[in-house]
Amino acid sequence: MKNNQINFFKSGDFNTVLKPLGEDLKTFREERIVKIDNYEIKETSKELEIGIYGWYAICPLKELKKNKIFYFSMYDEPLLLFKDENHTVRCVKNVCPHRGASFFGGDLKDGELTCPYHGAKFTSEGSCKNIDRLTCSHIIDSNYKSYAKKIHLYQYKTLIKDDYVFINYCEKPETNISDNEEELNPNKHELNKHGFKADEYVFEEVLVDFKCDWARIIENHLDILHIFWVHGDTIPDKDVNKNVLTSFNQKININKDFIESIYSYKNDPSKEFIRIKFIPPGRILIYKGDPSKSRYVQVLDHIPLGNNKARVIVRHYRKFMKNKIMRNLVLFEEIQRKTFYKIFNEDYMILKTQTYNLKLDLLKNDEIKLLGEDKIIKYYWNWYKNQKPKIILGNIVRN
Ligand code: FES
Ligand SMILES: [Fe+2]
Repeated sequence: MKNNQINFFKSGDFNTVLKPLGEDLKTFREERIVKIDNYEIKETSKELEIGIYGWYAICPLKELKKNKIFYFSMYDEPLLLFKDENHTVRCVKNVCPHRGASFFGGDLKDGELTCPYHGAKFTSEGSCKNIDRLTCSHIIDSNYKSYAKKIHLYQYKTLIKDDYVFINYCEKPETNISDNEEELNPNKHELNKHGFKADEYVFEEVLVDFKCDWARIIENHLDILHIFWVHGDTIPDKDVNKNVLTSFNQKININKDFIESIYSYKNDPSKEFIRIKFIPPGRILIYKGDPSKSRYVQVLDHIPLGNNKARVIVRHYRKFMKNKIMRNLVLFEEIQRKTFYKIFNEDYMILKTQTYNLKLDLLKNDEIKLLGEDKIIKYYWNWYKNQKPKIILGNIVRN
C-alpha cells in the first residue's frame, strides 16, 4: 500500500516489495582519496558521522522464506538476509567479493548464494565453491589459498529473539563469523527481561518505510505531547483528544540498558497514563503499568536504512482475544493495521517537514526548546550525542 510517500507493508508481504537500495543515495560517509605509494586509497567511509552501532531487530523471522533473499540496508550499506540449510540466519554484505556486483538477480539455493555477474557460488559460511569460474585452473592450483581468502563473503552476526531477526551492526563485517551465544546475546531486547510474559500475548505487526531521518522518528515516538494534538482523532481512547489538556507527573528511570519515562495524571497520581521505554539503539516499548500485568505492549523497532530513509517495524502484542475465531470475527487485526497506517501518516506530515528544516540547517540548536514534558527527549539526545561511531576501513583502488 502506497500512501503519502510512506510505504506500508503487511506482515507476510515484506519481502515481495523490498528492493535493494543503492541508487540515488547520498552517502552518510564522506569520501576522500589518499595516495600511498602507487596506490590510491579510496576511503569510502571515514566514519559513520551520525550512525550508531549495535543490535537492531531487522525483520520478523517468518519473513525469511526458504531460498528467498531479504534485502535491506544499514546506513546505506546494502545487505541481505537469508536462512541457510541449517536454519542459521545469515546477514551478508550485498556486494560480491569478486568484482562488487549486487546479489540481486542472482540465486539462493539450499543456503548457497550465486552472484548474477560471473556465477561465483558461496557456501553460507561465506567461502567460494567454484573459484574455477573466476580464474584459470593453473592459477588456482598455485594460488588457491590466497584466492580463497580474497573471495569470501562479508557477514554481520545475527541472532533470533522473540521471533525477530537481530543483526549486530558493527564497524566492519567479518569473513569469519564465530557464533558465541553468550557474547552475542542482546538480552536487553527480550520482552521477558523487561518483566513481560511474552508467551501470554498474541501479536500482529506492520512495517513502514519513511523518507526521513531515523533519529527523528525515535524522537517522535518518545514524544508524549504530540499524541493528543496529532493523533487525538485517531486513537480510540476518550482521554486522548485535541481538547484535553493533560498535565502529567513524570518519573524517569535511566540505566545502561534503557531510558524509561512513566507518566501518571497530575490530578490523580495513582492513575498511570503510559510508559515509554527506549532500549538503544533502536527499540521502544509502549505499555501501561506493571509489565507482567499489562494487557498490551507495543514494540517499535527503528532501522536506519540510509540517509533520509528509515524503517519501523511495529508489533502490537495483546493479551486478550487469544482465540483466533474471535479475532477474525471482530476484524481486529485489520482495524489495528488501519489505525497504525493512519497514525504513521499523521506523524509523517510532521516528520518530513522537520527533517527538511534540520537537514537544510534552518534550525539552530539554540532555537530548539525542550520543555518540561520533553525530558525523555532530552535524555535521548544526550545518549545519541555520546555514541562514538567507529572508523570504517577504506577500500583499495588500483591506479
Ligand atoms: S562480481 Fe560476482 S562473480 Fe564476479
Ligand atoms: Fe506520533
